[in-house]
Amino acid sequence: MVATLLPPRIRRPSQALAVSCRGLTKEFIQGEAKLLALRGVDVDIPLGELTLLVGPSGCGKTTLISIVAALLDASAGQVEVLGRDLAMLGERDKVAFRGERIGFVFQQYNLLPALTAAENVAVPLLIAGRPRAVALARAAELLEEVGLGQRRDAYASQLSGGQQQRVAIARALIHQPRLLVCDEPTAALDAQSGRTVMELLRRVALQPDRAVIVVTHDSRVYDCADRIIHMNDGRIERVESRRRA
Ligand SMILES: Nc1ncnc2c1ncn2[C@@H]1O[C@H](COP(=O)(O)OP(=O)(O)OP(=O)(O)O)[C@@H](O)[C@H]1O
Ligand SMILES: [Mg+2]
Repeated sequence: MVATLLPPRIRRPSQALAVSCRGLTKEFIQGEAKLLALRGVDVDIPLGELTLLVGPSGCGKTTLISIVAALLDASAGQVEVLGRDLAMLGERDKVAFRGERIGFVFQQYNLLPALTAAENVAVPLLIAGRPRAVALARAAELLEEVGLGQRRDAYASQLSGGQQQRVAIARALIHQPRLLVCDEPTAALDAQSGRTVMELLRRVALQPDRAVIVVTHDSRVYDCADRIIHMNDGRIERVESRRRA
């Protein structure tokens, strides 16, 4: 029987799940000291939903989404993302998987200051070899969606923090990733721009083969969520489903 040959905790790739973690741990070693940032995370995150990840500073949110986005390796445990067991991917496959399937908005926006807003947004398509005119036209559309159509020719260094944050979100969406992972995407935004961004993220998440995970401290955006995962001290404390009928 084939089923008995498969690893015990993951019986088959879960088509309806964006992410599935079992017994995930992450240890950081600093000199003599060891810090256990994740202490056995078990969680399933469905496709077609906007999931929030919340919890106190230092509880492991950024660590968890960095592992899910294949930017950081776990110390132990299993993580399956979009049906792929990340432990089975070599470095090159991981880079390709990330480039094609995952979008990431970091806590720091990481824009290139000498490029314009539109050029920054276009970078992932340019790297993928798409023609410059096509990439810039798509970038202009996305900037329009995040309310920055007028600022597309401004250099990143000339934009406010909240504007840079929205450019980073547009950049993460341009290659239409199936999984978008955002670390505090509304932290630098006023209430109105925060809501605009969350509504955009929710439109992306509601597509049946896509998912969005947002780390946030901003309780103003809770009502946009389909699911809220509460973390504490390296573990999942509880999962609240808010899926509307
Ligand atoms: N590269 C690293 N080396 C050593 N320790 C780290 C590293 N990255 C994170 N940590 C530690 O792991 C723990 C979890 O950090 P993490 O960044 O995941 O927290 P967080 O929940 O995202 O917090 P915040 O809300 O402040 O961003 C913290 O104690 C942090 O100091
Ligand atoms: Mg963090």
